[in-house]
Amino acid sequence: MELTGRTALVTGATSGIGREIALQLGRAGAEVIVAGRDAERGARTVAALEEAGAKARFVAADMADLDSVGRLAEEAGDVDILVNNAGIFPFTPTHEQTVPVYDETFQVNVRAAFFLTAAIAPRMAARGAGSVVNISTIATEIGMPGLAVYSATKAAVESLTRTWAAEYGTSGVRVNTVSPGPTLTEGAPIEMVGPIGKTTLLGRHASPGEIAAAVVFLASDRASYITGATLPVDGGRTAA
Ligand SMILES: NC(=O)c1ccc[n+]([C@@H]2O[C@H](COP(=O)([O-])OP(=O)(O)OC[C@H]3O[C@@H](n4cnc5c(N)ncnc54)[C@H](OP(=O)(O)O)[C@@H]3O)[C@@H](O)[C@H]2O)c1
Repeated sequence: MELTGRTALVTGATSGIGREIALQLGRAGAEVIVAGRDAERGARTVAALEEAGAKARFVAADMADLDSVGRLAEEAGDVDILVNNAGIFPFTPTHEQTVPVYDETFQVNVRAAFFLTAAIAPRMAARGAGSVVNISTIATEIGMPGLAVYSATKAAVESLTRTWAAEYGTSGVRVNTVSPGPTLTEGAPIEMVGPIGKTTLLGRHASPGEIAAAVVFLASDRASYITGATLPVDGGRTAA
């Protein structure tokens, strides 16, 4: 299996896209560290991974809390693949946006990924290899009402991808972004993704597995000459 011997840390692996990324990385042979706040859902992801024959453990972490992010980086130890997936996506018109929700969205979507990568990427660089995959959204490319703060956080993530690729590339660490279109998850139910799915070139929403497949590809050696890229996995929505 192509990821045998690698350790992967997936944030937000207790639900939706992150859980599917964890499962597919595990099926490809990686040992998976499942991160999230919800220990019960974390245990279910770990059980599914073990059922698939993978080694896995849950580490509880609140990405809105910087101390918790630091503890996660320490408890994870040496990581070969880091997937910055945990995210929140509040729908609020700009003029109704509250400061606490604004702050929390940047804390979870940007600050946590920033300081987790700041802790882990240098350790990958010291070992001469590693892959970081960030998760963005089509909302960075197309204006979507109510998603001002969310799209701004993910635009920051895409920008960080390019900077980190420049900072760590010559040390053997690749950094890329997957930008999903509407994907059916616990956090994004059919009422939300169904109508947007109809506007894609494929005329439907995605399953989490379709997003995870792109993440696993970028994390693997098959993508050995890809870094600094943002890969749309959006049914052609941003090409339309
Ligand atoms: N679904 C879509 O249509 C779509 C489209 C484009 C991009 N995305 C992006 O894909 C990623 C996953 O989305 P999803 O649809 O799978 O969402 P989801 O089902 O709501 O899952 C979100 C995950 O993030 C974790 N999370 C949220 N806040 C956290 C916090 N403060 N600390 C730690 N973990 C936290 C949750 O874990 P706990 O609850 O256990 O903490 C959960 O595992 C997000 O970055 C999202 O922006 C989704």
